[in-house]
Amino acid sequence: MRAQRENANGGDDVNGTRERYLEAMGIQAWERRVDLPGLRPESAQVPDMPQAEPPPVVAEAQPPVSPPEPRLPESAETRSVASLDWSELKARVAECTLCELHAGRTQTVFGVGAHDADWMIIGEGPGAEEDRQGEPFVGRAGKLLNNMLRALGLRREAVYIANIVKCRPPGNRDPKPEEAAACRPYLERQIALVKPRLILAVGRIAAQNLLDTDVAVGKLRGRAHRYGDAGIPLVVTYHPAYLLRSPEQKARAWDDLCLARALLEEEA
Ligand code: URA
Repeated sequence: MRAQRENANGGDDVNGTRERYLEAMGIQAWERRVDLPGLRPESAQVPDMPQAEPPPVVAEAQPPVSPPEPRLPESAETRSVASLDWSELKARVAECTLCELHAGRTQTVFGVGAHDADWMIIGEGPGAEEDRQGEPFVGRAGKLLNNMLRALGLRREAVYIANIVKCRPPGNRDPKPEEAAACRPYLERQIALVKPRLILAVGRIAAQNLLDTDVAVGKLRGRAHRYGDAGIPLVVTYHPAYLLRSPEQKARAWDDLCLARALLEEEA
């Protein structure tokens, strides 16, 4: 194989012929210069040029970041009914316009009594006198209810009294289902706040709404029911206004009250 070396002109030097001729001529053989690192060949030398500044790094435009809004506690006007305390709930009811009953009211009839009562009495809705006074069961039916409670040894102030609807239905008609439904969260919140040990539903409207049934009062009374997730014992009896018209039913109503009292004692 032929050893090939590059000569000064860049040609091939076969078998060292060029060195031998040069040696013979007394000329020192020279080697093609090898560029050392950092030394540039003459031809490649360029005057120092001012170094171009690298283009400034421009930060990409970012959308302005606004500081987080301070978290204010949600106001009582917008919070769910189920989270309201007594005074917030009463204020919410007073401003309620969820059903048409609001248009004819003198005022809302929220409820009255002990906030920690064992007994909760639930009627239908305000009549003319309740609408005037802003308190449930203050008319003739209310007087009879007070007497029924007293017969049990209970003062009116020791129980909590509320209605299915908080505004008077015109002409004392029955509340419509949509009116009862609109008012339902208010009553549910009242029940949740009082946590009664017993609910006495007086009359058909109260009984059927609370038990979500259309069974007649005569069939619902005389036995124990349970209300809601907490399973609060519930007893149905006749409405005092009905008892005023049908006093012969008072004995049955008294039986219902005794059943309610027995249930409460049982659960104690
Ligand atoms: N009848 C009811 O059902 N509730 C009242 O508050 C008054 C009469």
